[in-house]
Amino acid sequence: RQKEQEKLREANEFAKKLFTFVLRNTAAGKPAMDYLRSRGFTDKLIEEFGIGYAPSRWDTLEKALARNGFDLPEMEQGGLLLKKQESEGYVDRFRDRVMFPINGNDGRAIAFAGRLMSDGQPKYLNSPETPLFAKSRTLYRLYEARGAIRKTRQAVLFEGYVDVIKAWSAGVTNGVATMGTALTADHAAVLRRFADEVIVCYDGDDAGQAAAAKSLPLLEQAGFQVRVGLLPPGMDPDEYIGSYGPEAFVREVIEGAVSAIKFKLIYLRKSHILLEDDGKIRYLRDAVKLVARQDSPTEREILLKELSQEFNISLDTLKQETADVRRQEK
Ligand code: CTP
Ligand code: MN
Ligand code: MN
Ligand code: MN
Ligand code: MN
Repeated sequence: RQKEQEKLREANEFAKKLFTFVLRNTAAGKPAMDYLRSRGFTDKLIEEFGIGYAPSRWDTLEKALARNGFDLPEMEQGGLLLKKQESEGYVDRFRDRVMFPINGNDGRAIAFAGRLMSDGQPKYLNSPETPLFAKSRTLYRLYEARGAIRKTRQAVLFEGYVDVIKAWSAGVTNGVATMGTALTADHAAVLRRFADEVIVCYDGDDAGQAAAAKSLPLLEQAGFQVRVGLLPPGMDPDEYIGSYGPEAFVREVIEGAVSAIKFKLIYLRKSHILLEDDGKIRYLRDAVKLVARQDSPTEREILLKELSQEFNISLDTLKQETADVRRQEK
């Protein structure tokens, strides 16, 4: 067991080195380098994030692993190779993809995400679950970011790998991401060891906003202070930084992140049609429920004042309704 795991760590690290070599030093890596350049990746970013390229041949890594004495069935278990369908032997799992390594607790790779350079499915191919890699517990870049997270007791949670990378280049060095899965309680528990506050910074599209809304109770239950970075509809952090620049990203999205309750109210609005009294009443009822769950009376009052002004309802009425909800929910 122990020995197999060590072999797998060595193999993943070996693969990482091979992929980075192919990207930087071979003709086969040229299209991947062009792709990365077109997306604004500098040499510094490519180096810092250990980005590589898995060539399109079926046996580049397979041959290299075999030559270096790695046990191929073990490498299949470790997610680097696939069993051939029609005959004996193994082939590379990752082919013709830009490779983003995910490093474990000792800085060595434990898994990869491979991105296609053209449209196609899946856009990202991730390593499968292996003895080294559990998606429900692993956060991309936690190993590298944890110093910065500890120092500030704050982490920024992104949806995508490239978002983490571009945010890092904008100076947001405490960013991590889940591995193409929804946030779990295990993720939250892992992060809680280093941080007291999380800024959720998911994509501005409907899927991203829905995922952000779902992540909030999970993070709050883990004991985090939670804020949400807001992005224009349809934009992700990478695109935002590309359009508005790194300073605007830090200032508007990260520093300007709103409280969890603010986000919940904003998100709630999207599911209500506020043109008619009916819709307004339903929205206000749901909004008051959210506000009622806030522990701080001051915070409740501030939020109710805003609702009161916006909907031209007296503060007393809203306070009354909040008190009713609090009594019922006790
Ligand atoms: N994802 C995945 N598999 C896919 C698509 C997405 O694992 N087929 C995960 C990846 O972790 C990805 C994240 O979901 O980073 C967010 O998806 P999306 O917003 O579609 O991708 P981006 O991160 O924006 O990717 P890119 O900028 O490279 O297009
Ligand atoms: Mn997305
Ligand atoms: Mn995205
Ligand atoms: Mn993107
Ligand atoms: Mn409703």
